[in-house]
Amino acid sequence: MTSTGGTAEGTAAVVLVGGQGSRLRPLTSSTPKPMLPTAGVPFIGHLLSRIAAAGIRRVVLGTSYRAEVFADYLGDGSAFGLDLECVPEPEPLGTGGGIRHAAAALDPAFEEVMVFNGDILSGVDLGAVLAEHRAADADATLHLVRVPDPTAFGCVPTDASGRVEAFLEKTLNPPTDQVNAGCYVFRRAVIDAIPEGRPVSVERETFPGLLREGRRLQGHVESSYWLDLGTPAAFVRGCADLVQGIAPTSALPGPIGTSLLLDGAKTAATASVSDGTTLGRDVVVGDGSRVIGSVVMDGARIGDNVVVTRSVIGPRAVIGDETVVSDAVVGDDVTIGANCELREGVRLWPGLSIPDGGLRFSGSG
Ligand code: GDD
Ligand code: MG
Repeated sequence: MTSTGGTAEGTAAVVLVGGQGSRLRPLTSSTPKPMLPTAGVPFIGHLLSRIAAAGIRRVVLGTSYRAEVFADYLGDGSAFGLDLECVPEPEPLGTGGGIRHAAAALDPAFEEVMVFNGDILSGVDLGAVLAEHRAADADATLHLVRVPDPTAFGCVPTDASGRVEAFLEKTLNPPTDQVNAGCYVFRRAVIDAIPEGRPVSVERETFPGLLREGRRLQGHVESSYWLDLGTPAAFVRGCADLVQGIAPTSALPGPIGTSLLLDGAKTAATASVSDGTTLGRDVVVGDGSRVIGSVVMDGARIGDNVVVTRSVIGPRAVIGDETVVSDAVVGDDVTIGANCELREGVRLWPGLSIPDGGLRFSGSG
């Protein structure tokens, strides 16, 4: 991705990846959210590729939940063209505490730090965010997007000049549909003033506190692709958008097409796999089955005449013949018999076994 406006030389990045990903359980019981496979690549790979493409080299990952998984995969970041370090927190420090803790590993010469929530798929031009931050001479600049349901996000009204007027995290009565997109530029001194050694929420404490002090917070509103992968529905959509080239990434050779079949995945001649589905390594799909807009992880087996729609099938799960799985999450190593029906938000915990016989399950989402 090319970047316009501000140059990122002299800018470092902090990426927050310490959350538990609880809305994506049971997928996140074993794998932290930013490490879940998306179009065949751990999600963090897409984000890091965008950061590298914008010209940022020095990156610190603030880790907490399953910290070792990141360090093992990313090493020193050289595979991404980055100078990367994973900094585990002694206890979960929240978003603001996590930024403070991670930024301590950055050379004081970095006077500007870009901060990223680690679960966002976005096409925002990072150079343009930096340019707006500098033009406004802001203490912090927030990337903002418009969404249909702002109650699930941080609502951020701005005035005609883009100056932030309030920060209302997950409010029931949002005054605008403009929300925090989870990407910021901070003046270094503002990060250094976040209290050390205790949990701090950047959304509930730091931003409202800065506004009370009359500090300049700028909003950079734009409308490129944006998705928070925090729920099962968003996760399957993000994966399908990556496969089909709808979501921007520099971590793949290019749009893949209607589906992505990783090494050893096999489909029967009468099966169809569509709408951005990913089949992981050694997945088998039987006769007459249809897999639509879904993520089927390594080693899973799907029987005959099965229909899987907008669902995640965990590694090594087995789905019996004639079964229907729709808007569901099937955990690692689950076995589902024939003629079952799983719909609408149902989640099956790892290792569960469901017998044959038309069992009907639905969940709350
Ligand atoms: N290091 C560290 N430590 N990281 C954390 C911690 C922690 O204690 N807690 C959460 N994180 C990381 C998560 O891993 C994630 O990458 C990021 O902080 C945001 O946490 P989420 O749990 O995904 O928050 P959210 O999606 O409900 O809300 C946030 O993102 C929205 C945009 O997607 C907020 O920033 C909202 O204001 C925003 O609108
Ligand atoms: Mg999130």
